[in-house]
Amino acid sequence: MLAQWYGWIQLVHLACAIVFVGAVTFEVLIIESFHAELGAQGMARLEQLVVRRARRIMPIVVALLFISGGMLFEVRCDGFACLGSRFGMLLGLKVLLALGVLGVFMSTMWASLRGRMDPCRFRYTHRIVLALMVGIVFLAKAMFLLA
Ligand code: HEM
Repeated sequence: MLAQWYGWIQLVHLACAIVFVGAVTFEVLIIESFHAELGAQGMARLEQLVVRRARRIMPIVVALLFISGGMLFEVRCDGFACLGSRFGMLLGLKVLLALGVLGVFMSTMWASLRGRMDPCRFRYTHRIVLALMVGIVFLAKAMFLLA
Protein backbone atom coordinates (compact mmCIF):
# COMPACT_ATOMS: atom_id res chain seq x y z
CA MET A 1 0.00 0.00 0.00
CA LEU A 2 2.68 2.54 1.07
CA ALA A 3 4.94 1.34 -1.76
CA GLN A 4 2.24 2.29 -4.30
CA TRP A 5 2.28 5.88 -3.03
CA TYR A 6 6.04 6.01 -2.57
CA GLY A 7 6.71 8.64 -5.27
CA TRP A 8 4.07 11.01 -3.86
CA ILE A 9 5.23 10.54 -0.27
CA GLN A 10 8.79 11.23 -1.45
CA LEU A 11 7.54 14.41 -3.12
CA VAL A 12 5.91 15.61 0.13
CA HIS A 13 9.11 14.75 2.04
CA LEU A 14 11.33 16.61 -0.39
CA ALA A 15 9.00 19.65 -0.57
CA CYS A 16 8.87 19.94 3.25
CA ALA A 17 12.65 19.48 3.46
CA ILE A 18 13.12 22.32 0.95
CA VAL A 19 10.85 24.66 2.95
CA PHE A 20 12.44 23.76 6.32
CA VAL A 21 16.08 23.78 5.19
CA GLY A 22 15.43 26.85 3.02
CA ALA A 23 13.95 28.82 5.94
CA VAL A 24 16.88 28.03 8.23
CA THR A 25 19.43 28.83 5.49
CA PHE A 26 17.69 32.16 4.79
CA GLU A 27 17.81 32.96 8.49
CA VAL A 28 21.53 32.20 8.87
CA LEU A 29 22.80 33.63 5.57
CA ILE A 30 20.48 36.61 5.02
CA ILE A 31 18.68 37.74 8.19
CA GLU A 32 21.72 37.44 10.47
CA SER A 33 23.63 39.81 8.17
CA PHE A 34 21.29 42.70 9.12
CA HIS A 35 22.76 42.85 12.61
CA ALA A 36 25.13 45.78 11.95
CA GLU A 37 22.40 47.92 10.31
CA LEU A 38 19.51 47.18 12.67
CA GLY A 39 21.36 47.04 16.01
CA ALA A 40 20.38 44.83 18.93
CA GLN A 41 16.88 46.28 19.40
CA GLY A 42 15.99 46.19 15.70
CA MET A 43 17.28 42.63 15.41
CA ALA A 44 15.29 41.52 18.46
CA ARG A 45 12.12 42.98 16.87
CA LEU A 46 12.84 41.36 13.48
CA GLU A 47 13.47 38.00 15.12
CA GLN A 48 10.28 38.33 17.12
CA LEU A 49 8.36 38.77 13.86
CA VAL A 50 10.17 35.86 12.20
CA VAL A 51 9.39 33.57 15.14
CA ARG A 52 5.74 34.64 15.19
CA ARG A 53 5.35 33.69 11.52
CA ALA A 54 7.46 30.53 11.82
CA ARG A 55 5.36 29.31 14.75
CA ARG A 56 2.31 29.28 12.47
CA ILE A 57 3.86 27.50 9.47
CA MET A 58 6.77 25.37 10.64
CA PRO A 59 5.00 22.92 12.97
CA ILE A 60 2.87 21.73 10.01
CA VAL A 61 5.89 21.50 7.68
CA VAL A 62 7.96 19.65 10.29
CA ALA A 63 5.10 17.27 11.14
CA LEU A 64 4.62 16.40 7.44
CA LEU A 65 8.39 16.02 7.00
CA PHE A 66 8.62 13.49 9.84
CA ILE A 67 5.43 11.61 8.99
CA SER A 68 6.46 11.24 5.32
CA GLY A 69 10.01 10.34 6.46
CA GLY A 70 8.60 7.59 8.69
CA MET A 71 6.61 6.18 5.76
CA LEU A 72 9.61 6.27 3.41
CA PHE A 73 11.68 4.57 6.11
CA GLU A 74 9.10 1.78 6.48
CA VAL A 75 9.24 1.01 2.75
CA ARG A 76 12.99 1.47 2.19
CA CYS A 77 14.05 -0.32 5.35
CA ASP A 78 11.34 -2.98 5.41
CA GLY A 79 10.63 -2.27 9.07
CA PHE A 80 14.13 -2.19 10.60
CA ALA A 81 15.54 -4.96 8.41
CA CYS A 82 17.91 -2.67 6.48
CA LEU A 83 19.81 -1.51 9.58
CA GLY A 84 22.48 -4.22 9.19
CA SER A 85 23.48 -2.96 5.73
CA ARG A 86 25.61 0.06 4.88
CA PHE A 87 22.53 1.74 3.37
CA GLY A 88 20.65 1.12 6.62
CA MET A 89 23.45 2.50 8.77
CA LEU A 90 23.61 5.72 6.75
CA LEU A 91 19.80 5.98 6.79
CA GLY A 92 19.82 5.36 10.57
CA LEU A 93 22.40 8.12 11.02
CA LYS A 94 20.26 10.45 8.89
CA VAL A 95 17.26 9.71 11.12
CA LEU A 96 19.34 10.31 14.28
CA LEU A 97 20.46 13.73 12.97
CA ALA A 98 16.82 14.46 12.03
CA LEU A 99 15.74 13.59 15.59
CA GLY A 100 18.46 15.98 16.82
CA VAL A 101 16.91 18.72 14.63
CA LEU A 102 13.47 17.85 16.03
CA GLY A 103 14.78 18.12 19.61
CA VAL A 104 16.34 21.55 18.96
CA PHE A 105 13.22 22.69 17.08
CA MET A 106 10.87 21.65 19.91
CA SER A 107 13.01 23.25 22.60
CA THR A 108 13.18 26.49 20.56
CA MET A 109 9.40 26.56 20.12
CA TRP A 110 8.99 25.88 23.83
CA ALA A 111 11.46 28.63 24.79
CA SER A 112 9.82 31.15 22.46
CA LEU A 113 6.36 30.34 23.83
CA ARG A 114 7.65 31.02 27.34
CA GLY A 115 9.43 34.22 26.22
CA ARG A 116 12.88 32.77 26.92
CA MET A 117 14.28 33.22 23.40
CA ASP A 118 17.02 35.86 23.29
CA PRO A 119 18.73 36.92 20.00
CA CYS A 120 21.94 35.09 20.97
CA ARG A 121 20.20 31.77 21.59
CA PHE A 122 18.13 32.35 18.43
CA ARG A 123 21.28 32.75 16.30
CA TYR A 124 23.17 29.76 17.71
CA THR A 125 20.11 27.52 17.48
CA HIS A 126 19.80 28.27 13.76
CA ARG A 127 23.48 27.61 13.14
CA ILE A 128 23.33 24.23 14.89
CA VAL A 129 20.18 23.27 12.99
CA LEU A 130 21.74 24.32 9.67
CA ALA A 131 24.86 22.23 10.35
CA LEU A 132 22.68 19.19 11.19
CA MET A 133 20.63 19.75 8.04
CA VAL A 134 23.70 19.86 5.82
CA GLY A 135 24.60 16.45 7.28
CA ILE A 136 21.05 15.13 6.72
CA VAL A 137 20.87 16.22 3.07
CA PHE A 138 24.37 14.83 2.44
CA LEU A 139 23.38 11.47 4.01
CA ALA A 140 20.05 11.43 2.10
CA LYS A 141 22.06 11.15 -1.11
CA ALA A 142 25.21 9.41 0.18
CA MET A 143 23.14 6.47 1.52
CA PHE A 144 22.32 5.59 -2.10
CA LEU A 145 25.69 6.53 -3.62
CA LEU A 146 27.80 4.66 -1.03
CA ALA A 147 25.47 1.67 -0.47
C1 HEM B 1 15.08 17.49 9.26
C2 HEM B 1 14.50 16.39 8.83
C3 HEM B 1 14.73 15.79 7.46
C4 HEM B 1 15.23 16.34 6.30
C5 HEM B 1 15.73 17.77 6.08
C6 HEM B 1 15.22 15.30 5.30
C7 HEM B 1 15.65 15.46 3.98
C8 HEM B 1 15.63 14.48 3.01
C9 HEM B 1 16.01 14.65 1.63
C10 HEM B 1 16.51 15.97 1.03
C11 HEM B 1 15.87 13.45 1.01
C12 HEM B 1 16.16 13.15 -0.46
C13 HEM B 1 14.81 13.05 -1.18
C14 HEM B 1 14.97 12.80 -2.66
O1 HEM B 1 16.06 12.85 -3.19
O2 HEM B 1 13.93 12.61 -3.33
C15 HEM B 1 15.41 12.50 1.99
C16 HEM B 1 15.15 11.17 1.75
C17 HEM B 1 14.74 10.26 2.68
N1 HEM B 1 14.39 10.54 4.00
FE1 HEM B 1 14.50 12.33 4.91
N2 HEM B 1 14.71 14.14 5.85
C18 HEM B 1 14.40 14.39 7.17
C19 HEM B 1 13.85 13.52 8.08
C20 HEM B 1 13.63 12.18 7.86
C21 HEM B 1 13.13 11.23 8.84
C22 HEM B 1 12.77 11.59 10.29
C23 HEM B 1 13.08 10.00 8.22
C24 HEM B 1 12.66 8.66 8.76
C25 HEM B 1 12.10 8.45 9.92
C26 HEM B 1 13.53 10.18 6.85
C27 HEM B 1 13.61 9.18 5.91
C28 HEM B 1 14.02 9.35 4.60
C29 HEM B 1 14.11 8.27 3.62
C30 HEM B 1 13.80 6.79 3.87
C31 HEM B 1 14.57 8.84 2.42
C32 HEM B 1 14.86 8.11 1.10
C33 HEM B 1 13.77 8.43 0.11
C34 HEM B 1 14.12 7.91 -1.27
O3 HEM B 1 14.84 8.60 -2.01
O4 HEM B 1 13.66 6.84 -1.64
N3 HEM B 1 13.86 11.52 6.68
N4 HEM B 1 15.25 13.15 3.19
